Amino acid sequence: MSEQVPTLADFRSDTVTKATPGMRAAIAAADVGDDVYGEDPTVNALQDRMAHLTGKEAALFFPAATQSNLAAVLSHCQRGDEYIIGRNYHILINEVSGTAALGGAAPWPIETDEGGSLTAEAVREAVKEPDQHHPVTRLLCLENTVHGSPQPVDLIDDLTATARDCSLSVHLDGARLFNAATALNVPVADIIRNVDTASICLSKGLGAPMGAMLVGDGDSIARAFRLRKMLGGGMRQVGHMAAACMYALDHHVDRLAEDHENAALIADGFRRIDGLGVRQATNMVWLTPPAEHHGALAAHLAADGLLLWPWKPTMRIVTHLDVDAGQAQALVDSVHSFFNQV
Ligand SMILES: Cc1ncc(COP(=O)(O)O)c(C=O)c1O
Repeated sequence: MSEQVPTLADFRSDTVTKATPGMRAAIAAADVGDDVYGEDPTVNALQDRMAHLTGKEAALFFPAATQSNLAAVLSHCQRGDEYIIGRNYHILINEVSGTAALGGAAPWPIETDEGGSLTAEAVREAVKEPDQHHPVTRLLCLENTVHGSPQPVDLIDDLTATARDCSLSVHLDGARLFNAATALNVPVADIIRNVDTASICLSKGLGAPMGAMLVGDGDSIARAFRLRKMLGGGMRQVGHMAAACMYALDHHVDRLAEDHENAALIADGFRRIDGLGVRQATNMVWLTPPAEHHGALAAHLAADGLLLWPWKPTMRIVTHLDVDAGQAQALVDSVHSFFNQV
């Protein structure tokens, strides 16, 4: 995109949001201490709140979910162990193979359906028989939402029961767990009631500048606490960021429904154009234009100041705190004007 074009709206990710004036005031006013010494009152309050909210024994604040996922996997797996994971899940594809590179824990990918769901049967089949030739299958890694698609509570419970039956621990990457809870209309605690550990992002739909929480049983979180230090995630007066997360929990959870409505508005607008592949779930829209128009459409949107990920063959659009219904409509209008002229 030409640098001269002013950005009208940024739909690349819900990570692009900037702290609101209210959140900045909360950051400035935070009571802080050295969190490596366990002395940051705002971090401690946030961890207590998240443990309570998610129905878990303990919670630990991390700079990012990549690190909380890594610490979680390594808290469950020893070097040489294996974990089962969906083939398109974030830990497998977008976290730099940290579990293998840094912890010697190898993924065993299994298929998902179009909505990102695993089946209990596939999980059971993936568990290795005890044999000197095999790694020990130790963990099942779930995700919710998966590329926007909420995974129902019954499915998570079913997969978790299967994992237990096979003596596996369960970790759930809930970077967008609050989006899933909003779409399913259930408390977040219900979705993760049977998993051992779950990561939850505060820096995506909830709009904090940084931060993820690992929640789980006391023993897993105690192991993750040491791992966080090993991974360089021990932070100091990070209560300023915890205050942003507190603010996000107070002010930005209920409004996630608006993001989902804006995503639906975009998807409905796209569906009025013949020949487009359109999928929408929670705050994500996936647009597959005819291959011959892909490049020109991407250039047209960029020229209109509308940012999205123009991946091939399918582009990704994400709604969030910093885009409103008017900007969502502007995206629809721009796509319509493109297809009116080709
Ligand atoms: C599903 C999922 N899990 C984990 C992460 C990692 O989060 P972070 O950017 O905080 O490391 C992301 C980031 O986009 C994500 O989408």
